[in-house]
Amino acid sequence: MRTTPKHATLITGIGQLVTCDGDGPDGLGLRHDQAVVAEGGVITWIGPAAQAPAADTMIDCAGRTVIPGFVDSHTHLVFAGDRAEEFAARMTGSRYDGGGIGTTVAATRAADDDRLRTLIAGRVAAARAQGSTTLEIKSGYGLTVEEEVRALRLAREFTVETTFLGGHVVPAELAANRAGYVDLVRGPMLAAAAPYARWIDVFCEPNSPHAFTAEESRMILTAGAAAGLELRVHGNQLGPGPGVRLAVELGAASVDHCTYLTEADVDALAGAADTTVATLLPGVEFATRSPYPDGRRLVDAGVSIALASDCNPGTCHSSSMPFMIALAVRELGLTPAEALLAATAGGAKALRRTDIGAIMIGRRADVAVIDAPSYLHLAYSPGMALTRAMDL
Ligand code: NIG
Ligand code: FE
Repeated sequence: MRTTPKHATLITGIGQLVTCDGDGPDGLGLRHDQAVVAEGGVITWIGPAAQAPAADTMIDCAGRTVIPGFVDSHTHLVFAGDRAEEFAARMTGSRYDGGGIGTTVAATRAADDDRLRTLIAGRVAAARAQGSTTLEIKSGYGLTVEEEVRALRLAREFTVETTFLGGHVVPAELAANRAGYVDLVRGPMLAAAAPYARWIDVFCEPNSPHAFTAEESRMILTAGAAAGLELRVHGNQLGPGPGVRLAVELGAASVDHCTYLTEADVDALAGAADTTVATLLPGVEFATRSPYPDGRRLVDAGVSIALASDCNPGTCHSSSMPFMIALAVRELGLTPAEALLAATAGGAKALRRTDIGAIMIGRRADVAVIDAPSYLHLAYSPGMALTRAMDL
């Protein structure tokens, strides 16, 4: 039986090919004079440009750098309104404690489906325009059964990596009944949300009066696992706390923020490097004027790390992964190579995906191009908007 041949695209003129395939001393798999062929959305050939096969379409990169598309494994893109005033107040000394989330919950509930869909689409396009080809998207600004399901249903229109975050904060209307809200999240809300979610997450942060304790978080996460969802945790963002150890104990794929870590937390993460990724979100420290996490310490201890944007209206209103890489190099002590790997292969590991995060034969043709002669420009040229996802 004849099948229709797939459309093949040849990428040539690549100045520097950074595959992130683990090769070489820094794992970047950096190569020169290479060409790449993508067919049916998959990488089918990588080799010397002089030996490149014929293809239906040719893209000439004119000496630019080619990298895997960024895997942004942590975003909250389903929201309406903004909190620019709250940001401005923080810049002159007020502290972030999660209380502002209620403002976004009210604005999000007030937006109809079309409005929210338009907002998400704009944010997804903005992320892609800066090189992101995979986005995880959380709910968490609905906080009722209907509103959390709606957020996940809309997020599913844009990504398979949807995360149920009913356990974001206790909503204002149930502030006097925390236990009742936890029971709602792990009961009817979870049951209604699970068909639309791959993951469950919780804001485990006893340092915030709005977020959840270790025991509340454990109840929510174990119920999620029993419903077939995989686990992620917001932990150790505002101070030392139980999030990291809970995530490791429960085998979560990722624990995110990791801003305040004890030796015991770092040891636990190093021991769980095959299972649990520490996802660093330096845009949050930037926008909350908080101390940055020590990325160097984590890498040196053998912890698996990822870099993500956390794009949300409260703690980081940016989806720019090049900006996160620049911060990681300048403020977290990572080398440019470590930061790029964390934003690509690291993000893929945090999402337990083996089909993205590197340019390798058989992986998805998720590729970004940097309008510069080397990947170093991701950190060296901050804010210059050099990177974009390629349409293949
Ligand atoms: O990851 N910390 C919890 N959730 C978000 C912030 C949400 C918000 O402030 O709107 C975060 O930082
Ligand atoms: Fe977050």
